[in-house]
Amino acid sequence: MTSRMTADGRSHALADGNELPLLGLGVWQVEDSQVCVDAVRWALELGYRHIDTAQAYGNEESVGRGLRESGMPREEIFVTTKFYPRRKDPAAEAERSLERLGLDYVDLYIIHWPEGGPTWAWPGMEAARERGLARSIGVSNFDDGELEQLLAVASIPPVVDQIQFSPYEYRRGLLEACGRHGIALEAYSPLGTGRHLGSGTVGAIADRLGRTPAQVLLRWCLQHDVPVIPKSTHRERIAENAKLFDFSLSDEQMAELDALDETGGTTRALERKWWRG
Ligand code: A2P
Repeated sequence: MTSRMTADGRSHALADGNELPLLGLGVWQVEDSQVCVDAVRWALELGYRHIDTAQAYGNEESVGRGLRESGMPREEIFVTTKFYPRRKDPAAEAERSLERLGLDYVDLYIIHWPEGGPTWAWPGMEAARERGLARSIGVSNFDDGELEQLLAVASIPPVVDQIQFSPYEYRRGLLEACGRHGIALEAYSPLGTGRHLGSGTVGAIADRLGRTPAQVLLRWCLQHDVPVIPKSTHRERIAENAKLFDFSLSDEQMAELDALDETGGTTRALERKWWRG
């Protein structure tokens, strides 16, 4: 597969010409409070240039405050939000997100999950992009079949599929399908929401390298050319999760981690589609 890493090794080149920084801060399950404001501000102070939120998280106002309090120029930061698919109008909801965030545009706007089918919301997503509310548009939690249905009707193709991805959820079939479609696969829950940090295999590799389990799990994604959005509200962990660019995993270590996959190399995005009950 061709690498789409940019020359500085810090971003993934999207098919529409925009660049998605490989490291982002995820804020799922961070309440709309000072905790979220601080996490965003710290991340930007510590070198992150990418923040990932969603309408469903209910914390866009705090993300916006963190962005402003950081004093970082808008054009240096990549901001993602997600359309909550139980609403009707993606472009109207993007405008509401921008008001809450205090921004004129988001860098990436994605359908959070394919509730009601993979295609109905896409014209509204395209409208959001055409109106300049979002620079890039994409999806989340879409499996290969859903991507194909969407690509068959899209005027503007999606450039990202954000899915649960880690050595234990190494969805090789979906990763390869995304590569064929020119879609960047982006990893949410790269630490398994914390579950994978206690893995013996990961821990042994971390010990050999003098690194932490979190750094090994994140680096594994980067070496698959997959952007990551680890979540933490602790400054020292946010800092730890950013130290990924000064070491690498050997081919043997990558293979050892690849072998942890419990999905059978699936093309599925999820084992359970929660919106179907
Ligand atoms: P916390 O937010 O309390 O720091 P994921 O990104 O896969 O969703 O994982 C997020 C979970 O992992 C959160 O519970 C977070 O806790 C924890 N976490 C994030 N980074 C680290 C780290 N470097 N070391 C230990 N736990 C971490």
